[in-house]
Order: sequence, then structure tokens, then C-alpha cells
Amino acid sequence: MANNRGYPHFRRFLSRRQYILTTALFTISAFVFSIFLLLYGFAPKEDDILKDDTRLEEPQQSQSVQQQVSDENLWGASLSHGLHPCIKPTVRHKAAQGSDHYITVRSNGGLNQMRTGISDMVAVAHIMNATLVIPQLDKRSFWQDTSTFSDIFDELHFITTLQDDVRIVKALPKELESIPRARKHFTSWSGMGYYEEMARLWKDYQVIHVAKSDSRLANNDLPLDIQRLRCRALYRALRFSPSIESLGKKLVERLRSHSGRYIALHLRYEKDMLSFTGCTYGLTEAESEELRIMRENTNHWKVKKINSTEQRVGGFCPLTPKEVGIFLESLGYPPITTIYIASGEIYGGEARLSELKSRFPNIISKV
Ligand SMILES: *[C@@H]1O[C@H](CO)[C@@H](O)[C@H](O)[C@H]1NC(C)=O
Ligand SMILES: *[C@@H]1O[C@H](CO)[C@@H](O)[C@H](O)[C@H]1NC(C)=O
Repeated sequence: MANNRGYPHFRRFLSRRQYILTTALFTISAFVFSIFLLLYGFAPKEDDILKDDTRLEEPQQSQSVQQQVSDENLWGASLSHGLHPCIKPTVRHKAAQGSDHYITVRSNGGLNQMRTGISDMVAVAHIMNATLVIPQLDKRSFWQDTSTFSDIFDELHFITTLQDDVRIVKALPKELESIPRARKHFTSWSGMGYYEEMARLWKDYQVIHVAKSDSRLANNDLPLDIQRLRCRALYRALRFSPSIESLGKKLVERLRSHSGRYIALHLRYEKDMLSFTGCTYGLTEAESEELRIMRENTNHWKVKKINSTEQRVGGFCPLTPKEVGIFLESLGYPPITTIYIASGEIYGGEARLSELKSRFPNIISKV
């Protein structure tokens, strides 16, 4: 159940969508990086971090940084910078249409990407005046997670929270199960006009099946109320199921009782990520080859030939464990800091993790 498994679909847009790709992969590979930039407004030049390992490794430099950063700056609550939640509908927001048109959807990608995709599908169902059937989750990704929607999310909460916005049902009505459906891959990054156009399908079909959830509605000049609906879906309606909530609380309690403060690090340095992105910097020849073969054999990863150097220079690679260590140290976190590894198995295992451990020995993972 790790994040961001659906990245293959970015690749097709590599040339056309450089900007979006950069933003997306940046989020994937350096989630913690962006959090810290946000929290502390401390922005080391990318060059310093990525290209000039040797200079950053000089201990004097990081130690001098360490002395300057106060505890409050490292751990205190960040300023909101005037940002505030923006999820209330305006007076112009239209209510859910009691529609007998249905949208079924198979979500794709990792958990994080599916959450965004599901929120987009809520908005799409609203735009198209359709009833949304509880989405299926991706069961074919690298992680082979067989969980259903209700295993992960609080289904009833999802349905009732959005009841004024869109009608959501657990399953298609029996009588519609076997009728022909329109099968669509909605074009990613489309605007309102596209979905209004798609609503013409209702002339011929009562059910539209959407094979992927990566509509990627953000930043397409959507009306304010659609953006707010996406936020309501994402931040209010999609709540984890009670069993996951309680497990999460237990983990946090244990971490807190262990050390009080800790950093949860989504170190996205996992086999599938490196294979898919072709990022082999610092890996052995044998490892690079293993990743190349994996990419070759994964049908839904369309880009096979990747120049690792260019990927890295272009900023499309996750930070290595070592780089994350350098980064956190430079921010001023002391070596005793507890770091919880939130991601899956790190490629290269203990040996590679030791490059982070040498700076931060208190590393805890769930395995
Ligand atoms: C949805 O329904 C509303 C109100 O009935 C209508 O004005 C609008 O055109 C419909 N939208 C689509 C995409 O069919
Ligand atoms: C990869 O790209 C770099 C920089 O553009 C270039 O110097 C190198 O020769 C390329 N490697 C291969 C194997 O094509």
C-alpha cells in the first residue's frame, strides 16, 4: 500500500508535458524535500544537493548549518502563509442530479494517485450528471495489493459526505450489470468542455466504464465549485477505514513513545520506481541490468530505453538515501533524530540504507 504507483502514465507525456512531469516526479521522489521547503522556507539550490556531492559532504559546512537552526525552527508548527482550506461550495454550486446514468471506474496507480483520481472522478460524475459507482482499486500494480475500496476507505462516510454533490452507490443496479457499457479512457488534463462532450454518450449508453482514473483535472481552468468539490472529496470524504486509522494511530503512538519527535520519510527508492524511471545513479552494473530487464518485461511501462544520466540531470530521479541524509543534515537535523521509513523495501536493502544510517542511525521501518 505505498504511494504513487501509477507513474507509468506520466511517461507518455514526457516531451509534451515536461512541466507537469517535473512537478509530478518531484513530488514522488522528494516528498519530504517539498515539505521541508514549505515548512522552513529554506531552499538550497538543487545544484548543491544533486550535482555536487563532494562539496556538501564536507562536515564543517553541515555542522555550521546545524548550529544556526533552532529547535523551534526544526520542529515548530509552520506558518500557514495565509493559506486556508477552501472546500465550501459557493451559492452557485449545483446539487447532485438524481441520475439514472452510471459511471463505473477502475482506479489506477498507487494509493496516493488513486485518491486524487477518485476525487477527480467524483468531479467528473458531477459534471456529467451521473451516479458514481464506488470505484474499483488497482490490483495489477507492482504491489499486488488486493484491497477493495471499503478495505482502505470508510465507504459510508465517502457516500454521505458527498451526498449533496453527487450520488454514489456501492454497486450497479442488478438490471444494469449485463447491459453494454461505453468503455472510455478519458483524456488526461481535459477541461469542462471535454466532459460535457462526453455526456453525449448518455444518448446511447446508460453506463460508462472508465478504465483509468487519471483524469488529472487540476489546473485546467475548472470552475471554482468543481475545484472545491475535488477538495471536499479528497480532504473530507476520503477517510481511511477504521482499522487503518487505528493501526496508524498505534504506529504514531509507538514512534512518539520511542523518541517524541520523528521524521516520517517517504523514501521512494524502491525497485519499481528506479526501474520505471531508469535512474541507476550509484547502482552497480548488476543492479542496473536487473532494473533494465524489469522495465523491459513490464508491458504497461511504455518507455524502455532510458539514459540514466539524462534522467538525473533533468531532475526526474528520486533522491538516493545518501542524498536524503545530506539534505536532512544540511537542514540542521541532529544525528539522533528518529527517522521512520514510510515507504516499501529500499532497493539495495540494508547496504543502501546504511548510506542514510551513517548520518542518522535511529532509523525505524515497519519491516
Ligand atoms: C446536467 O444537468 C443540468 C440540470 O439538469 C443541465 O443544465 C446540464 O446541462 C447537465 N449537464 C450535462 C453535461 O449534461
Ligand atoms: C547519456 O547521456 C549523456 C548526456 O547527454 C551522454 O554523455 C552519454 O553518452 C549518454 N549515454 C548513452 C549510453 O547514450
